[in-house]
Amino acid sequence: MPPYLLGIDIGTTGAKALLLDVANDVAQASATTEYPTLTAHPLWAEQNPVDWWAATVASIRAVLRGDTIQPQQVIGVGLTGQMHGLVLLDKQGRVLRPCIMWNDQRTGAQCAAITEKIGAPRLLELIANPVLPGFTAPKIIWVRENEPKVYAEVARILLPKDYIRFCLTGAFATDVSDASGTALFDVQHRRWSSEMLAALDIPSQWLPESFESTIPSTQISAAAASETGLVEGTPIVGGGGDQVAQAVGAGIIRSGIISATLGTSGVVFAAAETFLAEPEGRLHTFCHAVPGQWHWMGVMLSAAGSLHWFRDCLAETEIARAKETGADVYDLLTARAAQAPAGSEGLIFLPYLSGERTPYSDPDARGVYFGLTLRHTKAHLIRAVLEGVAYGLRDSLELTRALGLQVTQLRVSGGGARSALWRQILADVFDTEIALVNVPEGAAFGAALLAGVGVRVYEDLQDACARTVRTIEQTNPDADTQKYAAYYPIYRALYPALAPLFKQVSASVS
Ligand code: XUL
Repeated sequence: MPPYLLGIDIGTTGAKALLLDVANDVAQASATTEYPTLTAHPLWAEQNPVDWWAATVASIRAVLRGDTIQPQQVIGVGLTGQMHGLVLLDKQGRVLRPCIMWNDQRTGAQCAAITEKIGAPRLLELIANPVLPGFTAPKIIWVRENEPKVYAEVARILLPKDYIRFCLTGAFATDVSDASGTALFDVQHRRWSSEMLAALDIPSQWLPESFESTIPSTQISAAAASETGLVEGTPIVGGGGDQVAQAVGAGIIRSGIISATLGTSGVVFAAAETFLAEPEGRLHTFCHAVPGQWHWMGVMLSAAGSLHWFRDCLAETEIARAKETGADVYDLLTARAAQAPAGSEGLIFLPYLSGERTPYSDPDARGVYFGLTLRHTKAHLIRAVLEGVAYGLRDSLELTRALGLQVTQLRVSGGGARSALWRQILADVFDTEIALVNVPEGAAFGAALLAGVGVRVYEDLQDACARTVRTIEQTNPDADTQKYAAYYPIYRALYPALAPLFKQVSASVS
């Protein structure tokens, strides 16, 4: 009976379960169950943790279904998920309110107050980062100020994947990479920051114990075993935030190789073998899942999420055709985009649909189509979205290059990287050759590798990645590079020009 590793990803749109076949080093089966996001106000994004658990159970049951895989073949579990979300539990472990998610932008005032109180330079010393609206700490303060009755009941604070760990095991635990995104974690020393907790008056006993990502810290409980079909006592490792797990799944585990990920969010990720906070805090400096390493990352909030928005609002025809023919709606959209020329004949899309984080931390930033003329068609509109996301990722890439890293290879991953057109646009906008890896499943695959190190199937993450991850295709920049080189400065100039108007629009809507 060959062994399997289970990776579970509590993503932004759904919970994925993935089984990694250890004997053959490949993903054997995966299943995703979706859940809704609630946006009661323009800047808000919330999900119900109870929906995550129901979706997780459904996905685990889906991959275990059938006669081919017996639950006792699953020898280790790795958890990953959307970072920074605030899950609040009462004394009985009941969820007190919906999770305030990573892309929720309501806490601008709380971030300003925390920065004013502690001071930006001291924050960089304490947590290696500024306090940004997506991070967890300002959300805790928001609940204290706006929902005092809820706050009075709080007994535990968890991150999204760690709520699922609680459901699977009854234990309160997290890992150092995910904890790094709370703004309460001393990233350099890989432990909670007692000074931050004291300054914000947050009781340290509310927080879970933090572990390195590959350490088996908890086990499947009897209750979770009967719900999910897994075997009681199966070990679960610390796991990691989705970006770290995605990076492990793409082999970004030593300096030199960096990645650009086209998920709902868009991320440029570089491993760092020694600790160094990015001096102005524009890139995040967080703990890596590789013990003793850190990483830098730039995060744009709506990358493939922008195309998802386009699909939901403007792609009725493609959705209908996809239903009729069984084609993938995103393939239909990108095929349409390919009919427009590079540069979309001067149409530029600013992908700030949920505000932005890198390079401008601005909850009020808004999405924009700039330069529309009668000549533009739907093909231009779609292509401009793909290009605008590529320009946004280039912003983070430029910040990463400015750290003086010797970049030997740039790898692309995430759902959006499946599109050959989008990969070509990235290569042209970055003016760099880019490589695609063989692992399409990203974060859930990385989480399974973390579990594999924890249960000693692999010696370490270097061994795990050497056995499973390889590049399968390369895309080189072509003649369109010059067009994009001309448009990128215009894209760069749009945000500063529009920022004051974004503030006015935001104020008028709220
Ligand atoms: C990372 C971040 C997002 C979420 C959702 O800092 O906010 O990537 O983790 O993917």
